[in-house]
Amino acid sequence: MAGEKPVCVALVKDQVKACAAKCPHAGARMAEGYIDALGNIVCPLHRYKFSLSGGRNVSGEGYFLKTYAVEERPDGIYVGIEEKNGFLGG
Ligand code: FES
Repeated sequence: MAGEKPVCVALVKDQVKACAAKCPHAGARMAEGYIDALGNIVCPLHRYKFSLSGGRNVSGEGYFLKTYAVEERPDGIYVGIEEKNGFLGG
């Protein structure tokens, strides 16, 4: 969770990445997928692949996965969630 928003957080080559908790195709939980050898997140349901650097659907089905900026600080990991009036870390 980032604030009240569910997100999927993944460790990719020593970097923390964050994306939407649900797949844009049919709503599968992205946290139940896996990271492939190229660092893409793979949905557990139909295996569509998405870049965690921008959300592009690299397997070509035409969907887009929302990704979030991540900042690692001494007191924790902050995910930039867009709010109506700016950004909120959490
Ligand atoms: S639900 Fe993720 S690819 Fe279909």
